[in-house]
Amino acid sequence: MSRKILVLPGDGIGPEITREAVKILNACREAGLDVDVEEGLVGGAGIDAHGVPLPDETLARAKAADAVLLGAVGGPQWDKIEDLAKRPEKGLLGLRKNLNLFGNLRPALLYPQLASASSLKPEIVAGLDIMIVRELTGGIYFGQPRGIEERDGEKVGFNTYIYAEHEIERIGRVAFEMARARGGKLCSVDKANVLEATILWREVMERLAPEYPDVELSHMYVDNAAMQLVRAPKQFDVIVTGNMFGDILSDAAAMLTGSIGMLPSASLNEQRQGMYEPCHGSAPDIAGQGVANPLATILSVAMMLRYSLEAPQLAERIERAVGSVLDQGLRTADIAFEGTAPVSTQAMGDAVLAAFQAQ
Ligand code: NAI
Ligand code: MG
Repeated sequence: MSRKILVLPGDGIGPEITREAVKILNACREAGLDVDVEEGLVGGAGIDAHGVPLPDETLARAKAADAVLLGAVGGPQWDKIEDLAKRPEKGLLGLRKNLNLFGNLRPALLYPQLASASSLKPEIVAGLDIMIVRELTGGIYFGQPRGIEERDGEKVGFNTYIYAEHEIERIGRVAFEMARARGGKLCSVDKANVLEATILWREVMERLAPEYPDVELSHMYVDNAAMQLVRAPKQFDVIVTGNMFGDILSDAAAMLTGSIGMLPSASLNEQRQGMYEPCHGSAPDIAGQGVANPLATILSVAMMLRYSLEAPQLAERIERAVGSVLDQGLRTADIAFEGTAPVSTQAMGDAVLAAFQAQ
């Protein structure tokens, strides 16, 4: 039976970069991948057509799909909407929450061809290949109670850092399996010297460890982890952490690789249904100009093939095609550091397609 993929281009540069990624997806179909591909509206595109960032129809189709490929959402034209629930970004959060996409995978991989793009010295980042596994649907971003109230004559703001054992266990398993499939090293990041919720986090990780004797588990406090990421990032293989720490550490790790235009991500639920998207946003400053880098979105298709569609060979073929266009010296403006003339979004997509087909 063919698998279903829902493509949600979104707004800003979303449609431009998604178009190039869909070309590669179609090439995978020609290479034997059995999928049906549909398109839908989300974010500003949903607001403009239906008045809501996540139309019911889009949500229903996303639930029925094996995987969702999302471009990006957001832009200044919707910033005047005061009700947070009606803004483009809510479309994204609604999908994550409704599909229960608790497992966020964010690789930080430095392409050797782009080593000069990193903010760190080449010897510190050469060969960098980290996978950050971030819990995405729990923790302090969702914990209750929360709010701002009047107490004793002044306002107080509060949030709740809360994790249940089952939430820790399921993200822990994703991370242990990831470590098993990679270099066999897992570092769990917490703040167990201060926060009880993370004492439990550490306990659950320790409890899982005997089931994965081939994985070496270590623990690190988050402040030290931030320091180690910029001091000696190659000590890490897989990092697992909660929602807030993961948000911050994954952005820091992303920057070690130089360009946001290169970084894909995956968000998975227990059924391995997933949403795949570039780490960057809708880049309104360059939208419509045909200059955005489509590689993060194309690499998100590779993650989709690997994690939701069980087609690792095709995933590797896409990744090799991306490596080969970088070897050829093709650069979109965001990665054109060496003074090379930048190519357009479409030219980059076409080059990846040609390199994919040439294999
Ligand atoms: P952004 O990631 O959209 O842009 C930051 C900078 O990176 C800009 O200078 C942009 O031109 C550049 N950039 C981003 N992607 C690029 C690409 N593929 N190729 C070349 N350059 C690229 O972040 P920003 O400016 O903070 O947010 C813009 C809008 O995007 C906001 O409305 C924000 O809420 C939304 N956003 C959406 C996300 C999503 O859809 N997942 C994630 C982050 C922000
Ligand atoms: Mg963030």
